[in-house]
Amino acid sequence: METQQPDKKAKQHTHQEFIEFQGDDLFDVKNYFWEFFQDGIRQKHYIYLNPLTTAPVSQVQAYDRYTKSVRPYLNFSSYNYLGYSVYPEVIREVQNTLAKYGTGAASAPLFSGYYDVTERLEKKIAAFKNKEAAMVFSTGYSANVGVLSGLLKPGDVAVLDILAHASIYDGAKLAGAEIKVFSHNSPRHLERVLKSLNTRRAIVCVEGVYSMDGDLARLPEIVALCRKYGIKILIDEAHATLIFGEHGRGVAEHCGVEDGMDISIGTFSKSFGAIGGFAAGDEKLINYLRFSARSYIFSCAMAPHTAAGILKILEIYDRDKSQREKLWNNIRYMHKALTNAGLDIGNTQSQVVPVFVGEEMRLREIGRRIYEKGLYTGIVTYPAVSSKRTRLRLSVSSCHTQEQMDACAAILKSAFDEIPQ
Ligand SMILES: Cc1ncc(COP(=O)(O)O)c(C=O)c1O
Repeated sequence: METQQPDKKAKQHTHQEFIEFQGDDLFDVKNYFWEFFQDGIRQKHYIYLNPLTTAPVSQVQAYDRYTKSVRPYLNFSSYNYLGYSVYPEVIREVQNTLAKYGTGAASAPLFSGYYDVTERLEKKIAAFKNKEAAMVFSTGYSANVGVLSGLLKPGDVAVLDILAHASIYDGAKLAGAEIKVFSHNSPRHLERVLKSLNTRRAIVCVEGVYSMDGDLARLPEIVALCRKYGIKILIDEAHATLIFGEHGRGVAEHCGVEDGMDISIGTFSKSFGAIGGFAAGDEKLINYLRFSARSYIFSCAMAPHTAAGILKILEIYDRDKSQREKLWNNIRYMHKALTNAGLDIGNTQSQVVPVFVGEEMRLREIGRRIYEKGLYTGIVTYPAVSSKRTRLRLSVSSCHTQEQMDACAAILKSAFDEIPQ
């Protein structure tokens, strides 16, 4: 970035430049970023942090900084894939637990932040995942960071699919491990990387459903390679839990390779509509991680009422999978509606639906138009994805109606037509 031109217009800069910028003073970057940000507001390109004033369901109300009013939006942004965050039965359970335990855990788990309800949740998750044990973290992010930083040492190798989530990269970095990447979902490239390793102290990390692309890990081939080279595997089923596999355990269950997974990570912030994360694996491994995962040891535990709400969701899910069926009908409908509208949704096979845009300037113009037209979606650029592969990211939920999905496709089509490539 050219530091002598702080007043260049936002449309000439990308977010990536600011992240990589280094001024003489540590805080110089804030002034350049401020210019970028203010210009983004002037051009109505800044469409982040619009506070919602309702629950994250298919139709929401949110503050619009440009009309200075709260107005309705069609919501294709929230991860509340199965609508559980607003289930009356779940809310009642949370309220009752809140009345009994108060608002928070008030300590890290190893001290007094561990409650009977947290222990019940861990046992239930272990049984649900068909693993010997599970531990609960306060977020999915901290589950990956804690597990990888707790396991790996400098000199060890984390072998990551290049599209692995930031929390996986951050965990490996915190451990001081060497990070090697393989091309997205390429067993052939993975094999080259595994062949080149001169240690077996390595772990391959993949996601069941990729969080920005919605495609599925090629697990059978990846598992076979890990077995062949004697390397461990961590799978992050953040977006797959409750959606893939006969019992909802994720893509490993869907592919019939659960036994090949050494550690399975999940989050409660997606299909559960709550917050928190978990790691499931063998009992001795989970026990060790409780005393080595720094994000578990040095951070406050999940609130008891959150654990109770999640337990209630698991109970509902055990007896009634109708939300999941509705979701799958919606996924199929939405993929078809977007493809029929001529939009590029890549290789998604799930409720995570990218609509590829191209370079960042086009994303900003399209983003602005869809917000004006009343559609709330993820507007995704660097550092979440490469600035040349920007996209809108839609989250399909069981609560969307066909009319809402048609309206979403129509808004997208008109915005994409207005700003051709
Ligand atoms: C694949 C993946 N792992 C982990 C996380 C982090 O989960 P949480 O938001 O619960 O911290 C996310 C969040 O988007 C994710 O997509």
